[in-house]
Amino acid sequence: MQDNAYLKCIDPHCGLEYDISSTRIECDKGHLLDVKYKKIPSRVLKELFYNRRNPQNNIFNESGVWRFRELLNFCQIDTASTEECSKYLVSLDGAEGRQSKPYHMSKVAHFVETKSENLWLQPEGYNPSGSFKDNGMATAITHAKLVNAKKIVCASTGNTSASAGMYAANEDIECDVYIPSGQVAPGKLSQAYQFGTQIIQVDGNFDDALAKSLEDAKKYDGYTVNSVNPFRIEGQKTIPYRALEQLGWEAPDWIVYPGGALGNTSSCGKCLMELYEWNWIKKIPRIAVVNAEGANTLFELYNGKFEETELRWNKGKPNVELIVKYYKHLDKNGIRPKTKATAIQIGRPVNILKGLRALEFTNGVVVEVSDSEMLDGMSIVGLNGFDCEMASGAVPAGIKKMIKDEVIKKDDVVVGILTGRQKDPMLPVDYHNNPQNRFAIPPRDKK
Ligand code: F0G
Repeated sequence: MQDNAYLKCIDPHCGLEYDISSTRIECDKGHLLDVKYKKIPSRVLKELFYNRRNPQNNIFNESGVWRFRELLNFCQIDTASTEECSKYLVSLDGAEGRQSKPYHMSKVAHFVETKSENLWLQPEGYNPSGSFKDNGMATAITHAKLVNAKKIVCASTGNTSASAGMYAANEDIECDVYIPSGQVAPGKLSQAYQFGTQIIQVDGNFDDALAKSLEDAKKYDGYTVNSVNPFRIEGQKTIPYRALEQLGWEAPDWIVYPGGALGNTSSCGKCLMELYEWNWIKKIPRIAVVNAEGANTLFELYNGKFEETELRWNKGKPNVELIVKYYKHLDKNGIRPKTKATAIQIGRPVNILKGLRALEFTNGVVVEVSDSEMLDGMSIVGLNGFDCEMASGAVPAGIKKMIKDEVIKKDDVVVGILTGRQKDPMLPVDYHNNPQNRFAIPPRDKK
């Protein structure tokens, strides 16, 4: 094996390093890890990536993840050799990321009050398992195979389990999924069953399910594929790659995500840090994270709503005490995350420190939106002929709020990531049957 890729602790004051074949998700001191590459990739690759859009019967060119494989080459293989790629890289026949790129949606632009040409929305729901998770799962399962993992494990609000289950079934690896009992959308739960995962129902919320799954993974030698796994983050970098490629590698002013466990925020931050360092982009887009009002840990901490202290990465010296205090305050007052957008019903975002690093690097912002705003956001995307789930509806809702508050300026170019497709079928049915809702088209009865 070559020696280009390795793991490194994200804390610049710690900096512990590990071999790429390590399955740890944190360093000895408990900090999250990054996949690092020693060599700087040539900008000539931009052209190669573009040319691979004509895949010429190569599934690793067809895949919207592996099309960028030189930037994710933790397997340290000869990426030009299809034979080597097939031996190492996990792909659902090239389907992950294949359909996803940013589109203009005029009705959403009208809703958020900006010009259509300034707004791009990227439907990651058009991945094979129906969410952005496939981008990172292809890379995580690739690493799982590299280290000969026998069983993969995750906790999930639904989409992670669907994606993990799909790849595990395809690669014939066992898969245990820990879910918050009764809080997973039916379309997601049915995928976990359909793909033959072992479902473990945890009496509690996602945060409890994650704690349990991490504990069991350690005890029973499971390979964790939640976004605390640094290899998940690598695959999810391709979401902004595809957006940037569509924009001719001219950085937009904003990239907007819904915020849950903050894996996406972290991967977008890492993507931008690397591209900027390599001089592939000249400008750094600002990341905006949109929390649900009922699950707004990052919003509260980042904006100084708790103890009047704004939590920041602070060049690698974040006030971790404040986070601990905040979680104690949630527990003491019985505050549990609560939103109909169950995908982001998360109170303890495990990637919070990586998320803060991303926000600091990009001068990011964090806003919150209500359930009703998310439902309007979801519905207006639907009226453009695109399908997305409620958590993704946070993106148009958040953009609308930021434009109204002049955080996003009139001429700013905005890319919003629509993270998943509709898997909670009663949400749109109920929305449209209530004529009070802004975009409702109630059914008509015919006698
Ligand atoms: N959007 C959707 C559709 C999701 O499923 C999730 C997370 C998020 C946004 C939040 O993304 O964690 O990167 O901030 N779903 C996870 C799951 C937690 O288990 O499927 P994040």
